[in-house]
Amino acid sequence: MPEKCILVTGGAGYVGSHSVIELIAAEYSVVVLDNLVNASMESIRRVEEIVGKKIQTYNVDLLDKKAVEEVFGKHKFSAVIHFAGLKAVGESCDLPLLYYKTNVGGTVNLLEVMKENGVNNLVFSSSATVYGTPQYLPLDEKHPIGGCTNPYGKTKYFIEEILRDLSNAEKQWNIVILRYFNPVGAHKSGKIGEDPQGPPNNLMPFVAQVAVGRRSELKVYGSDYDTPDGTGVRDYIHVVDLAQGHVAAIKKVEEGCGSKTYNLGTGHGYSVLDMVKAFEKASGKSIPYSKVERRLGDIASCYADAALAKTELPWTAQKNLDEMCEDLWRWQSTNPNGFRSADGK
Ligand code: UFG
Repeated sequence: MPEKCILVTGGAGYVGSHSVIELIAAEYSVVVLDNLVNASMESIRRVEEIVGKKIQTYNVDLLDKKAVEEVFGKHKFSAVIHFAGLKAVGESCDLPLLYYKTNVGGTVNLLEVMKENGVNNLVFSSSATVYGTPQYLPLDEKHPIGGCTNPYGKTKYFIEEILRDLSNAEKQWNIVILRYFNPVGAHKSGKIGEDPQGPPNNLMPFVAQVAVGRRSELKVYGSDYDTPDGTGVRDYIHVVDLAQGHVAAIKKVEEGCGSKTYNLGTGHGYSVLDMVKAFEKASGKSIPYSKVERRLGDIASCYADAALAKTELPWTAQKNLDEMCEDLWRWQSTNPNGFRSADGK
């Protein structure tokens, strides 16, 4: 049987690139579409090295609908995984129109082109941010959504709503929405990983840059939360586990599942200080930190009820905290400047 071909939008990015590897391991063929605004071709080159195959990659923006149509004209896709989008919470507060245009507008273009081409299977990269401030924990998929406090989070929520409306109106669609908790870690090879532009907003890339000497110390945002040690608690999930969740979701849409939504998390919560300690152990480096004010918009605790994905996809996270930290350290210590060290950018 010929390999099924999956279009991966945002396939050069952090979660996208790891998912491309897992898709190829599961014997899919993959085409990547990425505008490379927040990602690098070097990441694709390294994925090619890992999988031992060329990856057909188009430098295309989803807002350029004609260019997207041309890509669909060249390939017969059985499904699309849609990662492409902007994702910086703070930036989205300053540039809301850019976020709505890019994330929501880009998705609508993609859906129209999929429809024109009879491609009805979609996996969408959403976020636990759609739950807003938790009313109860752990967060299951029935928890109310939409209480997001920033435009980035709202784009994820609005896109989810668009997808639900679409699958209500047109029964041929099979759509799996994946709500990620906090992706961390890197591929075992150390060749690819997260490579934020500028100072990282997220905890673990920042910790890793402190360890490698790019930043002097970590600021711990808030130490008076109602949590065991006063610092924020999150559900950190290894990016390779997350990537495997996408392969399971692709199999689900292939079965003709209609519209489904799953949390991808581990179900365990770790505090900022737990993470610092685990990373120090994995790296052998000490991470200087100071406790500062809470960051605006942060919540005390957030972790998943991961049971639905386990029974229905079926998928469950396999990798523990030590592995997340060891793999992140391998990537960061061998690539102190991320992908720039190799391609000079
Ligand atoms: N933190 C620090 N210092 C830092 C960075 C983070 O103490 O320099 C703390 C935060 O206060 C929080 C925890 O580390 O307690 C995790 O913060 P991240 O920024 O890594 O992750 P968030 O849970 O805040 O963000 C995630 C996703 C976003 C999403 C957001 C909202 O990364 O995409 O959840 O739910 F929008």
